[in-house]
Amino acid sequence: MSRQENCEVVTHYVAVNLATAHPHIDADGTVYNLGTSYTTSLGPQLRIVKFLGGHLEQASIVASVPSRWKTGLPYFHSFAMTPNYWVFIEQPLVLFFKNLVLNYVTNNKLMDALKWMPEEHLYFHVIERSTGRSVPIKYTADSLIILHHINAWEEDGHLILDVTANDEGKYLTTFYFNNIEKEVTDASKVIVTSRIRRFVLPLSLPDETHKNVNLIKLENTRCSAVRTSKSSVHCTPTVLWNEGFELPRINYKKNGLPYRYVYGVSIGQDLTFEKLVKLEVNTGRAWLYSEKDCVVTEPIFVAAPDAVDEDDGVILSSLLRGNDPHYVALLVLDARDLTETARAEFRAEGQVTIPFHGQYISAHNLVHSY
Ligand SMILES: [Fe+2]
Repeated sequence: MSRQENCEVVTHYVAVNLATAHPHIDADGTVYNLGTSYTTSLGPQLRIVKFLGGHLEQASIVASVPSRWKTGLPYFHSFAMTPNYWVFIEQPLVLFFKNLVLNYVTNNKLMDALKWMPEEHLYFHVIERSTGRSVPIKYTADSLIILHHINAWEEDGHLILDVTANDEGKYLTTFYFNNIEKEVTDASKVIVTSRIRRFVLPLSLPDETHKNVNLIKLENTRCSAVRTSKSSVHCTPTVLWNEGFELPRINYKKNGLPYRYVYGVSIGQDLTFEKLVKLEVNTGRAWLYSEKDCVVTEPIFVAAPDAVDEDDGVILSSLLRGNDPHYVALLVLDARDLTETARAEFRAEGQVTIPFHGQYISAHNLVHSY
């Protein structure tokens, strides 16, 4: 089925114009995704779409929340799902419809239609899966640009959410060709990379709270959530690892649950993916893999058939050589310590480019997970 045919089928069954590249999948094969739609009566909406059994023809909208902006939609790339909640962050990076039309007419980049408003707050949407309704608490935080929701889970009346994020609007121009092509020594080169940040949200509020009291009662976290009105709290995250980190992947069996490890890439000064990283999220312990003059790609965790521990399995990643654009290898690393256990090497006819967001699908999987 072509991509075009696929789009027509989805929109035939459910009113969603865009959706993330990061759907979630329940153990029974039901797929959920976060999408957007626009109607003249309701305005821009953010919507959770459910695909029963993973089938397009079984698609239905199970939750809708209005966009904060009536003439635009916030950029979003992913969301999180726990056993009881869908969670996503609405960020002040907005695609205004007027700018979209103007850019189309003037043949400008789509990116130029996005407006970053760092003075605005993040809004957290926490939606009960049983009802499709939002938790009646307004959660805010200082502005960040968020690409990936890594994982979220519930713990003693709190919701814990890990994301990759950065706080510099110029991040958006990092991967423009004219920036990538600049020498590392060029002072105008934009080098901004994300950090892993953790938020903790209280799922209920006491009747009365003094201002400036941290509502987070969990041990082992320095995250805070401070009441700003009867039903509003402002959250402050912590940084889990003080180095650049993106393209996060986890053992998907831990999705929505407490987890120990996230795998990703760190980005070098030349803006290439220079290292694979395994991070123990609660301790900050990191394992690294790199090869001189090579570029790694998004790590994909594949559990061992008889896995017991969370990191029983392998990491799959591609390896490209900067000085040999026809070389590509499939790396197989031990997920415990990122040591290389195997590699399959290929020579491509054309130049190999960096892939991301690939999936491992075993032969017996009817619906693949992540
Ligand atoms: Fe992504």
